Amino acid sequence: MAQIIQKAPGKIILFGEHAVVYGKPAIAVPIMQCYTTVTIQPLIHEHNIVQIQAPDIGLNCPLSDLDPEHPFAIIISLVAMLGSLQHLPGMQIHIHSMLPVAAGLGSGASVSVALAKALCSFFSIPFTNQDISDIAFEAEKRYHGTPSGIDNTVIAFERGIFFQREKPVEWLNIAQPTHLLIVNSGQEKSTKGMVERVRERFNQSPQLIQPILDQIGEIAVQARSYLKLGNAPLLGSLMVRNHRLLQELGVSTRGLDRMVELAMENGALGAKLSGAGGGGNMIILMDPATAPRLNQIFTQTGYNNPIQTTIQ
Ligand code: PMV
Repeated sequence: MAQIIQKAPGKIILFGEHAVVYGKPAIAVPIMQCYTTVTIQPLIHEHNIVQIQAPDIGLNCPLSDLDPEHPFAIIISLVAMLGSLQHLPGMQIHIHSMLPVAAGLGSGASVSVALAKALCSFFSIPFTNQDISDIAFEAEKRYHGTPSGIDNTVIAFERGIFFQREKPVEWLNIAQPTHLLIVNSGQEKSTKGMVERVRERFNQSPQLIQPILDQIGEIAVQARSYLKLGNAPLLGSLMVRNHRLLQELGVSTRGLDRMVELAMENGALGAKLSGAGGGGNMIILMDPATAPRLNQIFTQTGYNNPIQTTIQ
């Protein structure tokens, strides 16, 4: 068996986070310039050791030391099942992600997808993107409790998606290059914690929360049409409406709200938090002419390394 290197991108949710957990549609796109790399090498002299190195999270240990419920252990055992492997040969698995952890860029799902693909390639197990997405979804459950499945799907397929639980995934049709700036608030967040917070509020006052989730779902449906028509100004106003609804759900922060205001005051077409909220990233939709100004303003205000990307 030869050395294998596999990559998986990050992702960003454009519309519909949280509501997607309750069966509403959401829109997400892969971010190809930020990715995870997994390298697997055979260990010729150590036949039975599977050594896992993930320096970004301070992990360097044999598989036998990992809790069997650890996402990495789950992925290794699901790939072994897919390939009907009886035993694992000695190998060293090295995992490195450019994606910040707990920032809303899908670092967990990106690592899971890259690891599952690398293992399948290393063992020459035939796989489909759906196989990889299904395996990563099992790991997502360990990270997040009740994930919707949007992260593993958009990352495994590496395509923009209109996603709804229990429905076949739809590929996005994007008429015009759409320019985004992704800015990290610098505040780490817990997806599990934020999803639980919304669940508590939903259980306490479904009559208040359900209409918010319904409206977020309707926005995702409208956004799909505006992407297809290439209408960036209308998409931008939907983003701002989606952000307000996320505020009402209680998942925004003063910092994220301030960032959205800063973007809108400086010529953005739209802006909203992206992902679970409580920190993490926000996204800005902009005209390419305004991009340098927005980039500069956020950098000067102390937000490090905004990511500029174009979806098409
Ligand atoms: O912040 P992220 O990238 O973990 O996104 C979470 C998106 C949620 O809708 C809040 C949860 C989910 O599983 O879809």
